[in-house]
Amino acid sequence: MKPSKLNEKICKLIEARLADEYKAFYTYQAIANYCKGVGYEKASDFFTNESNDELVHARKLMTFLTDWNDITRYAGYRKAET
Ligand SMILES: [Fe+2]
Repeated sequence: MKPSKLNEKICKLIEARLADEYKAFYTYQAIANYCKGVGYEKASDFFTNESNDELVHARKLMTFLTDWNDITRYAGYRKAET
């Protein structure tokens, strides 16, 4: 019989990978923004596509966790400093 919920340790490991996916998204997007700002349009497009891929990866992990009744508690979020 399939358990209704994943082991907490496993959830935390996957959530850490989720944070990695978001970090990669932000990193690629920042590079894309820089490239666009200096006129490297093709490089900007490349890194924008890479950042989009990272969001796809993040969504897959969130869906996996949600399907296992783990409502993601994303710990990587930090309020922007003003
Ligand atoms: Fe990824």
